[in-house]
Amino acid sequence: MAETFNILAIGDAVGSPACNYLREKLSGVISHFGIDLTIVNGENSADGNGMLPQSAEALIDAGADIITGGNHTFRRREVYNFLDDSKFCVRPANMPSTAPGYGCTVIDTGKARVLVISLLGTVYMEPVESPFTCAERMLETNADKYDIAVIDFHAEATSEKAALARFLDGRVSVVFGTHTHVQTADEQILPKGTGFITDLGMTGVTDSILGVKSEIIIEKFISRMPVRFEQASGEASANGAIFMIDKSSKKCIGVRRISF
Ligand SMILES: [Fe+2]
Ligand SMILES: [Fe+2]
Repeated sequence: MAETFNILAIGDAVGSPACNYLREKLSGVISHFGIDLTIVNGENSADGNGMLPQSAEALIDAGADIITGGNHTFRRREVYNFLDDSKFCVRPANMPSTAPGYGCTVIDTGKARVLVISLLGTVYMEPVESPFTCAERMLETNADKYDIAVIDFHAEATSEKAALARFLDGRVSVVFGTHTHVQTADEQILPKGTGFITDLGMTGVTDSILGVKSEIIIEKFISRMPVRFEQASGEASANGAIFMIDKSSKKCIGVRRISF
């Protein structure tokens, strides 16, 4: 039987309800599924919005090995120095090079060296460098430094996510999408061996609209006026996916969508 390297990816963790919930549940999931590396999207992990050093540390404490970013990563200035100093937090790689932090990192678990790249989509989002050319450049620059490559593609349009995954099929082991906070039911192994899901979903308060108090979002749609987002409170849940990578071929040989 092939020896596998098992990667758990968890969708956008929203605020302290998500951090606390993962603190409670994540270690059990990691040991139950024999996970070798856990990646959590942390762009919304601070209460209010964005990410803070404290919220990133809470996710690491909960069991995350790597935290990935998104369009909200830079909302809080307090996190800028932290991003510059951190080896386990990555911000989108296709931001201008003047942005704080790093677009990718390599973590050596002892079992494998894993390159994790964070990328932003360009459809219905702020303009940034093409994630396609940026991904190729990052893979080339790091070519001799990793065994397994994983991409968090933080994007709105399902077509853009599917296109990037297929563009990179066979060149990276995993592409998972984040940002929409809604888990998609299309987990699959692409023809050349890349594991893919369009969106991992969200971790946070279940009775909410994408983690925010429902009445505020409803009010926004009815009044069409700006509103101040307030994080929902109540029972939490988590969404994500597990990717089993064959250690010798680096191909994904199993993918499983999870909710807990
Ligand atoms: Fe998010
Ligand atoms: Fe986002």
